[in-house]
Amino acid sequence: MDSEIKDLNEKLAKAYLGGGRERIEKQHQKKKLTARERVEYLLDNGSFEEIGALVIHRTKDFGMEKQQYYGDGVVTGYGTVNRRPVYVFAQDFTVFGGALSETHAEKICKVMDLALTSGIPIIGLNDSGGARIQEGVRSLGGYADIFYRNVKASGVVPQISAIMGPCAGGAVYSPAITDFTIMVQDTSYMFVTGPNVVKTVTNENVTSEELGGAGTHASKSGVAHITAPNDTECLEDIKKLLGYLPQNNREKPLSLPFEPEDEIRESLLSVIPDHTNKPYDMHEVISGIIDTGSFFEIHKDYAANIITGFARLGGRSIGIVANQPMVLAGVLDVDSSKKASRFVRFCDSFNIPLLVLVDVPGFLPGTDQEWNGIISNGAKLLYAFSEATVPRITVITRKAYGGAYDVMNSKHIGADFNFAWPCAEIAVMGAKGAAEIIFKKEISDAEDPDTKLMEKEAEYSRLFANPYIAANRGFIDEVILPQDTRRKLLKAFAMLENKRADNPKRKHGNIPL
Ligand code: COA
Repeated sequence: MDSEIKDLNEKLAKAYLGGGRERIEKQHQKKKLTARERVEYLLDNGSFEEIGALVIHRTKDFGMEKQQYYGDGVVTGYGTVNRRPVYVFAQDFTVFGGALSETHAEKICKVMDLALTSGIPIIGLNDSGGARIQEGVRSLGGYADIFYRNVKASGVVPQISAIMGPCAGGAVYSPAITDFTIMVQDTSYMFVTGPNVVKTVTNENVTSEELGGAGTHASKSGVAHITAPNDTECLEDIKKLLGYLPQNNREKPLSLPFEPEDEIRESLLSVIPDHTNKPYDMHEVISGIIDTGSFFEIHKDYAANIITGFARLGGRSIGIVANQPMVLAGVLDVDSSKKASRFVRFCDSFNIPLLVLVDVPGFLPGTDQEWNGIISNGAKLLYAFSEATVPRITVITRKAYGGAYDVMNSKHIGADFNFAWPCAEIAVMGAKGAAEIIFKKEISDAEDPDTKLMEKEAEYSRLFANPYIAANRGFIDEVILPQDTRRKLLKAFAMLENKRADNPKRKHGNIPL
């Protein structure tokens, strides 16, 4: 037995060395951790159990039979994060640049299947030169096997992708289907075709970083939900994110212990400026409502005119969607509609209640918006809210104008509780625009049209730019004091704790994609 045990230990020692010390050193020089170091850092101490450490590839072409590495470029297995189980795979760049072979893909599929059938989140740490070139279509088949499982797992278990090195070509589509993509700044990039191909086809000169670096995907394309300055911060973000999520779609997210105190938050009284067109930072409203320091923002740098993120309210995990008056006055546009609708659908898939904070002057006008499909993109958000069956509460802090009033989780599309602050303005459009249209003739006939316009604007404001017509109708359940918002929300969400609602049975809806 001794010699057999020695043999096993030697094999495992080889597996733990991946592509060898030299390549590990290269990885470190690039300020990157190795696959094993990443897994160790992510999981609770000593909790990692590896699956498939001794897998090797089956390729014989191009002299590959002489280049065998145990594990075949990916470390797979399970462990715990803050004592909750997860499945994980981490591509090992030291073995064939983490390139994906048939067997490499089989290992990933194995943990994905286990994650899906056991209702456990799956985390992928990507660092790979793409399809294993020596394997051709077998490698492409391996990718498709992964994509297929990503889709099957979507909405069943949380799927998180970290991009911690190259991720190019077909490799990008697995992260794209998963729920969250976190990119490491400066050391990761994602693109379908790299700078060389771009140069040949479109004659554009662009660096990898410009084309598909973390900054680009976090701000321009929205492909990255979060960026982190280095590997360890990226892994910390995954741990934090998991804390807000349930293990699967049949569970509720974990609640933290909570002792109610004086829940009045005076700071909320002074957030809204005196003048209705002055901006303010909706983050101040959010922090005035939630458990202190609990906000975890998603898509911070993309479509900043809407804020999305997770938080805790009385220890419960909630998803927040909030217009941001600081950016483009908080209008809804193509990007913000896409951002918010995906977030709403994630929360609904995983039983995370939604808090919606509204200060929206309407949809952004212009040819750019119309030609880029503000109609179908705005409809996504309308659709996402309408189909969401999780507890949904809205607070209108100031403006709720036009179609955007309907879209932003209005009572009409199924919100459970709708509150408004006394300064709320709920109307078809802003007072100036409204006065210009409905009193057009009166204003142009007046001796002093400017004064007349101001008069009519004030009249319209008095009549319509307030929350009371909506409250009279019951579209707003209660007009509440800003400082009382947290207390009201704590009670309202508690009342919705056991909410049950179902959509009609169907194969699936047809959200305007
Ligand atoms: N298939 C097989 N082996 C690959 C590979 C792939 N797709 N990508 C990288 N490798 C190997 C390299 O041959 C090298 O092997 P070695 O350690 O034995 O020398 C190792 O991985 C590291 O690659 P290297 O090019 O030295 O690293 P780098 O950091 O300079 O560059 C990439 C990384 C990803 C930019 C570069 O390797 C690359 O362009 N790879 C091909 C990408 C591609 O076209 N993929 C196929 C389409 S999806």
